[in-house]
Amino acid sequence: MGKGGRASWSGSLAFVIAAAASAIGLGNLWRFPYLAAQYGGGMFIAIYLVLVATLGFALMTTEIAIGRKTSQSQLTAYSRLKSGWGFIGIIGTIIPILIVPYYCVIGGWVLYYLKAYTHMAFTGVNIMGEAAADSGQVFSSFISAPFAPFGYGMVFILGCAAVIVMGVKNGIEKSNMVMMPILFIMAIAISLYVLFLPGSAEGVRYYLVPNLDCVSTPDGKFSIVLLCKTILGAMGQMFYSLSLAMGIMVTYGSYTSKSDSIEKCVRRIEIFDTLIALIAGLMIIPVVYMFAVKTGTDVKQAMCAGPGLMFITLPKVFATLGTAGAWVGMGFFLLVVFAAATSAISLMEACVASVCDIMAIDRKPATFFTTAIIMFLATFSALGYGAWKHVKLYIFDTVNGQQFLDFFDFLSNSVLMPVVAVATCVFVGWVLGPKAIIDECESNGVTMKSKGIYSLMVKYIAPALMVMLLVSEICRALGIGGWSI
Ligand code: PHE
Repeated sequence: MGKGGRASWSGSLAFVIAAAASAIGLGNLWRFPYLAAQYGGGMFIAIYLVLVATLGFALMTTEIAIGRKTSQSQLTAYSRLKSGWGFIGIIGTIIPILIVPYYCVIGGWVLYYLKAYTHMAFTGVNIMGEAAADSGQVFSSFISAPFAPFGYGMVFILGCAAVIVMGVKNGIEKSNMVMMPILFIMAIAISLYVLFLPGSAEGVRYYLVPNLDCVSTPDGKFSIVLLCKTILGAMGQMFYSLSLAMGIMVTYGSYTSKSDSIEKCVRRIEIFDTLIALIAGLMIIPVVYMFAVKTGTDVKQAMCAGPGLMFITLPKVFATLGTAGAWVGMGFFLLVVFAAATSAISLMEACVASVCDIMAIDRKPATFFTTAIIMFLATFSALGYGAWKHVKLYIFDTVNGQQFLDFFDFLSNSVLMPVVAVATCVFVGWVLGPKAIIDECESNGVTMKSKGIYSLMVKYIAPALMVMLLVSEICRALGIGGWSI
């Protein structure tokens, strides 16, 4: 990589932790719980688990093996494997460049909440008002303020850049070793606290027991269309949560050693990521459920408030916990800051590695260059709800237009990521052949246990499912066929 030789992890554990740190992010803590609540609790969880173990396994193995085989970041990895297929890497490189700026802006929002709750915990001053009655007002005035969202976003970006510039071993690995254990301990502590709250059992049941309402029509008949929606919802979440189709796993895979077992590493990364998603559900769903019952709000509506769930509903929920609420809130937002930071670092690293590979420059100048671009792009998302709220993009939503942040989110997650995933499966399944990836996985001399399922997935099932996901996302964006999440 660059002029100084390719970086590497200090071992397979460091790699697993780094990849899990990338995977565990806002998607686990905020998106998974609300999708689970929306799509029938245990039913969604069961579908999600099957998808992670099959489709997720195949896609993650493919990406890591491509990175290790070529020792390249994704920008150059695909063309190295076969000329004419470099376009996958090029589109794939655009994705983290689109995601990282707005992800950091949301990281800045979380930072602001961490500061607010820390202040609250130590001084008792509650900026959210009595019973957090003003939490909606606090959130909207923060995101629409002329400078604050920009300032917090920039602090978040610079923090991540400081880790990246220190390198793979000294920066990424070391920061993960601090943040990830704290994140785990915090998540377990908060979920235990929630489980022991009087009355939480009802909420836990709501979360874990399969509910067939989400696959039934209002008159109680089973609907295959609704089942497909649930599966596609779980699939989109799996993609996002495992940080797939955006080059991160290719880049991280390129730092692994030939003696590591890719298959084992992938299984471990998936277990970590899924565990945190499940724990996040236990932290959030029972308390929101109890809150909804207490205030007479519809549970589904309370759970599906989008970003409002984390920034508006949860502060109200924390307020019901009395004096402990400020401390629980502080612990929760610290956990979210760490989860968002480790994910943003991986996204930024994917960009920096591509810059190093294509321009043949060192990590330091590549980091400065990339950070400057990210800061520039983040400005649009940071100011998009405030100073620039009159500016809307009428490309996909031709009626209402989209804010910058929503537009970047849609373009990357709903369009480009499924495109990259389909192209990767076609390339690996039909052009390169699954054997090339299986050989790479077996280069440590150990037979790959799931090679049968891997070939089946990458050749037939994954491309078909990915095409369905892409079509459904586009229909949803264009408002065709009543798709809505
Ligand atoms: N996987 C992360 C999550 O669950 C999200 C993410 C997206 C991370 C893109 C890196 C890149 O939140």
